[in-house]
Amino acid sequence: MADVTRWRQSDGRTVLWSNVTGRHIALGDEALARLEGPEGGALRRRLDTLDLLADPDPLQRIPCRHASTLLLPDRPALWLPVPGSHGAGGHAWQALPLSADEHRLWRAMNSRYTLGQLVERTGVHRSDAVALCRRLTRPEHQALQLHVTPPTAWGRAALSRLVSPPREANARPADRYGSEGQTTLTSWHLAIANGERHFDDVETTVAHALGRPHAALSGVRFGERLRAALRARGWTDSGWTVEIGCGSGEVAAAWADDDYLRIDLSPALLATQATTAPGTHALCADGVRLPLRDGSIDRVINNEVIADLEAVPVGPDSSGDRARTVRAALERFGITPWPHRAWYNLGAWQLIEEIARVLRPGGTAYVSEFGDDAPPEEATQLDHPEVSIHFGHLARVAVGCGLEVTRIGMAELLGADLHARQLERRCYQGLRALAAAEGWSLEARAYEPHTLTLPRPVEGLRWVPTSDEGPGPLITRFEALLLRKPT
Ligand SMILES: C[S@@+](CC[C@H](N)C(=O)[O-])C[C@H]1O[C@@H](n2cnc3c(N)ncnc32)[C@H](O)[C@@H]1O
Repeated sequence: MADVTRWRQSDGRTVLWSNVTGRHIALGDEALARLEGPEGGALRRRLDTLDLLADPDPLQRIPCRHASTLLLPDRPALWLPVPGSHGAGGHAWQALPLSADEHRLWRAMNSRYTLGQLVERTGVHRSDAVALCRRLTRPEHQALQLHVTPPTAWGRAALSRLVSPPREANARPADRYGSEGQTTLTSWHLAIANGERHFDDVETTVAHALGRPHAALSGVRFGERLRAALRARGWTDSGWTVEIGCGSGEVAAAWADDDYLRIDLSPALLATQATTAPGTHALCADGVRLPLRDGSIDRVINNEVIADLEAVPVGPDSSGDRARTVRAALERFGITPWPHRAWYNLGAWQLIEEIARVLRPGGTAYVSEFGDDAPPEEATQLDHPEVSIHFGHLARVAVGCGLEVTRIGMAELLGADLHARQLERRCYQGLRALAAAEGWSLEARAYEPHTLTLPRPVEGLRWVPTSDEGPGPLITRFEALLLRKPT
């Protein structure tokens, strides 16, 4: 019998985990039952290739490092995520100290040599090598797997997954929802305390992650690239630009030479923006109730804000005041309701109505957010509810308000080079956890190899294309509406 740990995940599947190799599989009850019977042959062969039926000699297997495990060579120690512990900013991380021999062995592992060959090359004693593997293949560490052959693409994918119970949605205080379940983030925004660090520590936006010159944007910052892209589409510079929801001021900084008004709910963020974008003007107000005269504004910018605005869950049986307001808007804009209970981006629609009101004839607006044409979904990874935008509905509302509408992907609008490299997300989270543990700080930026400087050596960092997950949100999930009020 193989030395296997079994546990049941909250999705109902059972994980079979080899304590010798760290290789594993998750099976449903049906497959488990089939294993015992005559039809289980194919599954048994699969388990056999994963060394789950009989323990192999570890010296005959190839140690392959898990992609998330970092090495701190000056300690020396491994720095790795705790699979079972996950919060709003990713996993908790832990340090596993290494002896000098273990350090040498870890560094020699290259997904090609067997443990036996590594023992010969490094001079590390066999029993020490086997003991290290035994420690690192455990479910609570998942730093190493022992493979029969060098990993294929499938095997490499398994080496970047962590197996842990599926995450619970982060518990959220009741004041982030209203009596009908609608999202209400006004008090959350008013309570933001540290405007300087908010987009590093609490929520990172695309503009903040790309707020340093980046190869993905031809070597400039997000705000500069956005301004150039909008100019190329006929945006002029004269008159007033109003930005609603300016975050750390990354976009405002690119327009700081103009008449530029920043409107935001958060006093702390308005103060931070004044430093990032000096010379711009500020107003503390709600974007869905703009204190601006009809037809008075030349340009409106609204970048990655509308998922924060009120979203309302409405089903065929909903009868409250917010549901009635949603139904009235659906009728007004000719939008067919979903046949089932779903989120509706009521606050985003109201913002579009406000933009249509304050723009002067010929005025233009840019509105971006994450979303698509699927029923909106609540994001679960943050400490506050954000709801994705249905861009088809949003465009209908804009047309209904008399605006000309162009819908475009954010990456396309910016001409982003999605092959440009950035630090992979889990590595970034590991560095951030290390910074917190050691008392240094790390901004949430889409670091490139030449823009990341660390106070200590860290080995094992991975770099991925901008189309993959990095420190910020996935740019390919974002869309924009370019709006124009006819003359
Ligand atoms: C997710 S951040 C985006 C910040 C920035 N535009 C960026 O792309 O990095 C949302 C911003 O909108 C502001 N905000 C949220 N709801 C608002 C509202 N109803 N009226 C005005 N500002 C709001 C927040 O305070 C914050 O500055």
